[in-house]
Amino acid sequence: MVQPVFTIGPSNAAKEIREEVFVVEQGFQEEFDDIDAASISLVLYLDGYPIATGRLVKIDPATYQIGRVAVRKPYRGQKVGTYLMRFLCQKAKSMGAKTAIVHSQFDKREFYNRVGFTEINGGEVDEEEGVPHIYLAKDLRTYYPKRRKKQ
Ligand SMILES: CC(C)(COP(=O)(O)OP(=O)(O)OC[C@H]1O[C@@H](n2cnc3c(N)ncnc32)[C@H](O)[C@@H]1OP(=O)(O)O)[C@@H](O)C(=O)NCCC(=O)NCCS
Repeated sequence: MVQPVFTIGPSNAAKEIREEVFVVEQGFQEEFDDIDAASISLVLYLDGYPIATGRLVKIDPATYQIGRVAVRKPYRGQKVGTYLMRFLCQKAKSMGAKTAIVHSQFDKREFYNRVGFTEINGGEVDEEEGVPHIYLAKDLRTYYPKRRKKQ
């Protein structure tokens, strides 16, 4: 069973996944920043084991930025990332956000396209630690998360 757990700032499980994915696997060095403490961090647990994480940062009352989205390697390609994004969008919307944005690694933009994000800023590409990135956004006002069927 998958369970979402939100915390203010990254939990130890969130830090562990981010370290494993962004620092060890992808080579980023400035993984943890000043924004972390005030962010809302999410960890998805599968049968008690942390498999994925992401965070929400308030840009303004109507806009939240989703970031540090990571699924542990053995769990990729099974819609865990999609599920994670759904929880993050739902949470942002519940706090009053009308728009969610992401600053995506350029070669990951297709994933965000799949979960309803589209390029903004004319598709301009910038860099974070030398890695090309692009901004995408999703309008949450028309976003209705799927409801679970009642048993
Ligand atoms: C990117 C990431 C979060 C995707 O998670 P995931 O659980 O594997 O994604 P899903 O299984 O939910 O995939 C959803 C869709 O996105 C597509 N997709 C996933 N990763 C993709 C990638 N790297 N490039 C292109 N498309 C991708 C899938 O093919 C799938 O398409 P479909 O709907 O047609 O089947 C995961 O690969 C990851 O953690 N990567 C390392 C960390 C990272 O780079 N994070 C993003 C930083 S911007």
